[in-house]
Amino acid sequence: MRAAAFTLISAAALASAQSKPAVIVVEKSLGNAYQNTTIEVSPTSDYSNPEVLNQVSSLYQIGPEFTYFCFAYNPAGEFYSDEYFGLGKPLHLSTNNVVVQAITCRVE
Ligand SMILES: *[C@@H]1O[C@H](CO)[C@@H](O)[C@H](O)[C@H]1NC(C)=O
Repeated sequence: MRAAAFTLISAAALASAQSKPAVIVVEKSLGNAYQNTTIEVSPTSDYSNPEVLNQVSSLYQIGPEFTYFCFAYNPAGEFYSDEYFGLGKPLHLSTNNVVVQAITCRVE
């Protein structure tokens, strides 16, 4: 009985850890400087706010404390890079800006 309850609780804890959003910094070039906007990308649904994604130079995952496997879609619906970006592994798209259609992040 106890063991079963414990199993349920740890399954719930694991599920909640895996559904935490990835914290992503969207960096935009202003020409002579850069501006950062921090967003959250859920592992269960893509992020596609054009106000934030219309001008992007780089993408960084800064949280939570484990890596996500994130990809940026270009307007043609393809990934900008076959390599994921994640914790400590930013995606540099351009020294200027490109349009990102959407960002998708998975836990594994
Ligand atoms: C934007 O955030 C990234 C990742 O944290 C950092 O490396 C970069 O220096 C920041 N840029 C600015 C302008 O704050």
